[in-house]
Amino acid sequence: MADFTKKDWWKEAVVYQIYPKSFQDSNGDGIGDLPGILSRLDYLQKLGVDALWLCPVFASPQADNGYDISDYQAIDPMFGTMEEMRTLIRQAKARGIGILLDLVLNHTSDQHRWFRQALQGRDNPYHDYYIWRDGTPDIPPNGMRAGFGGSAWTWVPELGQYYFHQFAPQQPDLNWDNPKVRQELYAMIRGWMAEGVAGFRLDVIDQVAKDPDLQVTANGPRLMEYLRELNRETFGGANLITVGEAWGADLARARQYSAPDGSVFSMVFQFEQMMLDQAGSKWNARPMPLPVLKESIARWQTGLHGCGWNSLFWNNHDLPRIVSRWGDDGACRVDSAKALAVVLHGLQGTPYIYQGEELGMTNAPYPLADLRDIESLNAYQEMRDAGKTDAEAMAAIHRMGRDNARTPMQWTAGGNAGFTTGTPWLRVNPNHTEINAEAALADPDSVFYTYQKLIALRKCCPVFAEGDFTLLCPQDDQVFAYTRTGAGQQLLVAANLSGRPAAFALPRDFAGTSPLLATQGQPADGMLRPWEAVLYCRQI
Ligand code: GLC
Ligand code: CA
Repeated sequence: MADFTKKDWWKEAVVYQIYPKSFQDSNGDGIGDLPGILSRLDYLQKLGVDALWLCPVFASPQADNGYDISDYQAIDPMFGTMEEMRTLIRQAKARGIGILLDLVLNHTSDQHRWFRQALQGRDNPYHDYYIWRDGTPDIPPNGMRAGFGGSAWTWVPELGQYYFHQFAPQQPDLNWDNPKVRQELYAMIRGWMAEGVAGFRLDVIDQVAKDPDLQVTANGPRLMEYLRELNRETFGGANLITVGEAWGADLARARQYSAPDGSVFSMVFQFEQMMLDQAGSKWNARPMPLPVLKESIARWQTGLHGCGWNSLFWNNHDLPRIVSRWGDDGACRVDSAKALAVVLHGLQGTPYIYQGEELGMTNAPYPLADLRDIESLNAYQEMRDAGKTDAEAMAAIHRMGRDNARTPMQWTAGGNAGFTTGTPWLRVNPNHTEINAEAALADPDSVFYTYQKLIALRKCCPVFAEGDFTLLCPQDDQVFAYTRTGAGQQLLVAANLSGRPAAFALPRDFAGTSPLLATQGQPADGMLRPWEAVLYCRQI
């Protein structure tokens, strides 16, 4: 329950990310929708979250599941109506839960009115809303590649020009150097603010100021100028959560994006940690020893303390499920899900929980025919074309593919996991018979209640929001342990992120205190059990 009037309320908040297509279907068409979300507010309130980030629900042909918007001001009929959106905003707010919308400002759908106009001719006023280069059909302006494979340039014979797209051809990039484009976007954002939303997540926002001729996408020369203007013209001073997705952010840039003076965003999604186990491309795995992960997290914790604000996440709709990735989705699924939760939620920043994470939902290694994600489908083809075998390509997709996270929310052990009475747009994970919300709610030892407790602790102990960070035993390759100190309190978090018992001595200052949270009952002396996590807090 958030107090939206409190300054910087988002520093104590926990956000829950909803993938609307896969959360709850209300009308049997196999696609999650707004009335479905509304019907689950009790559940979300019970978990204790303060805000819901909804992945895009705007009108869209769904080439990239809503990240290709054809009308920013309309709700896609598949998700519901504008009235239903207003109801959701109102009813969530009445429970102290804010709604965050997903703003995709880097590109539109090729079906957006602006792009349709732009195709009419070089003289059309909307032509300059997008990025064009003259050329001949066989020779694109340069060799830039698009995010989901293929060239970043698509030829339009009628115009004798190429348009630029960082993602799919159905997602033409907007030309942010055109002030009219920026003003249109700002007006749209002000419209949503007037509807009473609690904030925004800003899709690939560090890629808006691109320069395709220089092959620059992230962190273009005018980026900060544009982002500060965006802030001034819209949410600046409005005390909303604004979180900028920035794959290209290093610490210095993250400090700018989340500057405490509120001149850009309240916080940043940065991805350094989430790329440590890959080499070059996400499809190439490399080992990630625990000390490497700890070093990175520690550097970000100290690097932003007092001069920026991070978001904390293991999962989202683009990443594989964390228990399958860095936990154990077999025999130790529940314990590893809890341990990963404790490690993350003890840190400084605003935690994000991706739907189903609180149940310990796992990856879904489906055959190609059951996959729906444009990125995975294109990547499969590119890997095969590059000479990889079917088995190699499928292994990469099973490890990193985005559909892992996008399978329907598992509510019950029953048909289609209680997600839909129809045919789900993406197969339900067969393990819903074991992993589901109904079972979790009935089991006091479930992953759900660990999350519930972590959310509640963040609200009652100011050290979570304010404390600084000290990493303990940095070289230990099983134990992730740290202290946080501030606001008259000291927190100790220790987790064994391995399936073997680990030596761990409780620091002397904590001797004799009992844990605020222990995932496997009374902690043993001098050691942590496999995937065990503990959290202590003392007054100082
Ligand atoms: C972001 C989104 C992703 C989308 C891409 C293009 O990375 O999270 O789902 O495909 O932007 O909009
Ligand atoms: Ca539906």
